[in-house]
Amino acid sequence: MAANRTFSIIKPDATRRNLTGAVTKMLEDAGLRVVASKRIQMTRKQAEGFYAVHKERPFFDDLVAFMISGPVVVQVLEGEDAVKRNRDIMGATNPENAAEGTIRKAHAESIEANSVHGSDSDENAATEIAFFFKPEEIVG
Ligand code: TYD
Repeated sequence: MAANRTFSIIKPDATRRNLTGAVTKMLEDAGLRVVASKRIQMTRKQAEGFYAVHKERPFFDDLVAFMISGPVVVQVLEGEDAVKRNRDIMGATNPENAAEGTIRKAHAESIEANSVHGSDSDENAATEIAFFFKPEEIVG
């Protein structure tokens, strides 16, 4: 399969603990290449829009508050089978269930403060990339 792209966020719990490099190294070691990256403070409107699919879930308000509690690093990752490759290295949503060697096993603090986001389909990857990046900001 040809190289393709996914979207990643290094979440506030990780930036707060100065783990941007450590998380990025795990992504790179998993065969993913960072082709766009920026550190931003998400606005409430952005966080609510980004997680709109979860807006009826009981954890939505807390999740939005967490995602705007500090800076995040949004990234576009490129690699063979990028969406699955990234989901595999991220590990399970709840770090208690995450496999050894995954980012969430190594670094996540809780199901909410779980260090990374990764798109769950090619379609969502395209939508999420376009939510944060202009085409010219992505340099493969
Ligand atoms: P989800 O899309 O289910 O997980 P993933 O990030 O692994 O794709 O949920 C999105 C985020 O919502 C998740 O990373 C953390 C938060 N969340 C909670 O805070 N509590 C929960 O019970 C769940 C399921 C998710």
